[in-house]
Amino acid sequence: MDGVFERPRIFRNRSVLDLQYVPDTLQGRDKEIKDLQHYLGYVLDGGKPPDLLVVGVPGSGKTTCVLYVAKRLSEVAENTRILYTVADGTAYQVTAKLARESGFDVPLKGLGFVETWESLKKAIDEGITIVILDEIDKMLVKDGERLLYHLSRHPNTSIVAISNNLAVLSLIQDIRVSSSFIPRKIFFPPYDASQLENILLHRAEQAFYEAVLEESVIPLCAAMAARKNGDARYALNLLSMAADVAIRRGSEKVTEGDVRIAEGEIEKEFIRQSIERLSESQRILLYCVLDKMDGESPTNIYHQFNFVAKQIGAKTLSQRRLSDLLKQLELLGFVDIVRKGRKGRGRGVDWFVYPAFHYDAAEAKEVIVKSLATEYSFTSKNLLCENSQPNLSARSAQNGGSVQKKTLTDFW
Ligand SMILES: Nc1ncnc2c1ncn2[C@@H]1O[C@H](COP(=O)(O)OP(=O)(O)O)[C@@H](O)[C@H]1O
Ligand SMILES: [Mg+2]
Repeated sequence: MDGVFERPRIFRNRSVLDLQYVPDTLQGRDKEIKDLQHYLGYVLDGGKPPDLLVVGVPGSGKTTCVLYVAKRLSEVAENTRILYTVADGTAYQVTAKLARESGFDVPLKGLGFVETWESLKKAIDEGITIVILDEIDKMLVKDGERLLYHLSRHPNTSIVAISNNLAVLSLIQDIRVSSSFIPRKIFFPPYDASQLENILLHRAEQAFYEAVLEESVIPLCAAMAARKNGDARYALNLLSMAADVAIRRGSEKVTEGDVRIAEGEIEKEFIRQSIERLSESQRILLYCVLDKMDGESPTNIYHQFNFVAKQIGAKTLSQRRLSDLLKQLELLGFVDIVRKGRKGRGRGVDWFVYPAFHYDAAEAKEVIVKSLATEYSFTSKNLLCENSQPNLSARSAQNGGSVQKKTLTDFW
């Protein structure tokens, strides 16, 4: 077994680059941290903080900074309860999570909102409570307003809402809620390249052995992340993936080339996840478009869709429905729908559908086939090739076929 685990000495402590890692110093957010400290610090003067809304693009440090300030506050404000949750569920689910945070043994399923709220209220009634609702938009697009209604009217409670969505308040429909929840806004601007560079430099010092990174690596990661809306999460990801590329090469030095390879890998992963989020019909439709790199009329694409759907036992759809789905794919940036003047008699226009070219079509097709394979049974990878004999066994998994379920990750 000698040498099996011999690897280039690159990482001193890989976990420092994990997204869950909470750094003990934060770079480039002095003003935002000061604002948070100012308002939440009201509890130290015997008051209740105003409700706050922390907004900014993903990866701008919102969660990190709020948790950083909350942690320090909890060390000095003994009589204040601080509850944190990612509010990505229904009013009931979020309330149950908060009640559990406060020490109540409520189930995450099975009770009603009112009962769960009663438990949470008992905790809140005891004294000033700061309730941090991260990604609050996810709760508001469900029935989360119910919880916001009760929290915002409770005399002991301060709400810290966090969201990537600048227009999050417009998700509130109930006027009773919008009249009681009027938060002060703290805006987190996107990081610029030099701020990202600073963040990366601090992490890299702890994460890597000395002189492991080629000099241009951090500036390059920072510049690339600056172009992705200043997303610090992306910057950290890029750096740690670049180091992995170097390790796979057996090198003890991370180079600019490794960063570029890592960029491609992140892109691939992003496409995979985006495709996974599409509905089954959207995935089949996208496949049909990807099969026609030189463009095809929507009508032919719809025929092809229904041909394929029948073969694999998926739902067939009307032209109207398919046209809606195609427009959705266009909005999501997967396809381009192009209008072309008709040649010859010079009258009328034709529409053509093309794959949008910012992704690798062959790979995208493979992801689709494999994702469909979790529900349907195929005999061949090329099952959807049109004009070829359909060489697939049209058997839906639900219809009792002995289908081996696979997940997408099995294939990557
Ligand atoms: N100012 C900063 N200093 C150090 N690390 C940061 C900073 N801002 C963000 N990060 C890191 O970037 C990642 C994304 O930050 P996060 O707070 O989750 O962003 P958001 O909540 O705005 O989407 C986290 O891993 C975090 O540790
Ligand atoms: Mg966050």
